[in-house]
Amino acid sequence: MATITLDPAFRVAPVDRRLFGTFVEHMGRCVYTGIYEPEHDTADDLGFRRDVADLVRTLGPTVVRYPGGNFVSSYRWEDGVGPRAERPQRLDLAWRTVESNEVGVDEFVGWSRRAGMEPIMAVNLGTRGVQEAADLLEYCNHPGGTRLSDLRRVNGSKEPHDIRMWCLGNELDGPWQVGHKTAQEYGRLAAETARAMRMVDPRVELVACGSSNSAMPTFAAWEREVLEHCYDLVDHVSLHTYYDPAPVEKTTHLASSRDLDRMITTIAATADHVGARLRSRRRLTLAVDEWNVWYQSRFAGQDRLSYDRSHELIEDVYDVYDAVVVGSLLITLLRHADRVAIGCQAQLVNVIAPILTRPGGGAWAQTIFHPFAQAAAHARGEVLRVEPQVATYEDGLYGDVPLVEAVATLDDESGTLTIMCVNRSLAETVRLEAGVRAFPDASVLEATALWDDDPSAHNTEMRPDRVAPRPMDVTVEDGIAHAHLPPVSWAVIRLQTTRPTPTPHVSASLEG
Ligand code: AHR
Repeated sequence: MATITLDPAFRVAPVDRRLFGTFVEHMGRCVYTGIYEPEHDTADDLGFRRDVADLVRTLGPTVVRYPGGNFVSSYRWEDGVGPRAERPQRLDLAWRTVESNEVGVDEFVGWSRRAGMEPIMAVNLGTRGVQEAADLLEYCNHPGGTRLSDLRRVNGSKEPHDIRMWCLGNELDGPWQVGHKTAQEYGRLAAETARAMRMVDPRVELVACGSSNSAMPTFAAWEREVLEHCYDLVDHVSLHTYYDPAPVEKTTHLASSRDLDRMITTIAATADHVGARLRSRRRLTLAVDEWNVWYQSRFAGQDRLSYDRSHELIEDVYDVYDAVVVGSLLITLLRHADRVAIGCQAQLVNVIAPILTRPGGGAWAQTIFHPFAQAAAHARGEVLRVEPQVATYEDGLYGDVPLVEAVATLDDESGTLTIMCVNRSLAETVRLEAGVRAFPDASVLEATALWDDDPSAHNTEMRPDRVAPRPMDVTVEDGIAHAHLPPVSWAVIRLQTTRPTPTPHVSASLEG
């Protein structure tokens, strides 16, 4: 059995809607034959697939990071603007392919807004530097009257793109990155780029590159040194994390969110340490701007790619275990809502993605689509801390792991209380008792669980709903909500509560 207690007083922080972000990289078939396929039956006037855009709207990401990833570290943004017929073919060094530049900044920004997302733009700090980053920002955000902003207008975007969030490079701690740097080299470059970008547009929010994963030999030391240089010039520090199911036991895979939890607390502490040393009054937040399950050990590696290969790259097919891990990673991001401002699941389409497409054919939702879509739709208002009382299991990698992980959100406006939880047990249904006495009139709005008798089941173009959330019985009696969480499951329980009565306004007067 698992017991949890929900109380409106246990508030962590408001839900930053940017926690439900995604990522589109020029990699494999994410852009070409993913979101963009001008020959497709559903293509719009700009060549983007409408069937994919519809699925993206159902998935519900709020922000989208672009154009990479490793791709950005040798990207020339100028290649992707202006008349399409004049755009150059270029070698993409990161993924050893030829980039046609059919899609560039202008098309992408237009598409992302139509699909309901705000773009987050990354600049190339691998092979390029301060000037090119400032130029791209001027091109995107300056209203007009300069060479670059007028170029944007000539290219069809009269209004500025008004992109507020910018990433200062990508994974520059990694030797696989084109233009890989030491922490000192990157910290200095990030500082000077940030300074120049704020001169172009002081409203921007800037993300400094943190570690590429928690196993990097420079993990935390990288952040310490980088932030010594740019702490007061950036707003967020990034962290990336992928979990590979292939080489580990299922129980270890299901516990992956323990690593993310640790990464968040470690990097927040590192940033605070630098802030304290610098006597800064600012408090940086974290951008987990690449996270997901990735069967990375099945990927031959960048070095094995050749420029003449087909476009397909890391099109992982996800099962129920993976969906439950994705659910637990979303729970972890929400539990740290006081420190994590941005989350971007990597990536959106085809490349380790919740959406798969067939060129000239259909588009469908993978298992991992569902926890994301449900969290993005229902996690609103304030995050409430939930501490399950539940049995644990001993895992070789992660130590003591609770069978159930949970978080809740309370939307004061609608009065909806949403509980999100996972059951990591491979075989046992766990009885959940959620104490909701603090919400006297709580009643069940909707309850679903994603699980399957065969947790290795996955969705296909022919059976896109093979794995999807199904209704789950929940009752509320004497202030306790009762549910049964199937083995290897992700569950969402939405309760209607009476809107809290607003605190009476007390005005004090010095008169009389
Ligand atoms: O998302 C795939 C790749 O993973 C990205 O290009 C890179 O940033 C990370 O290593």
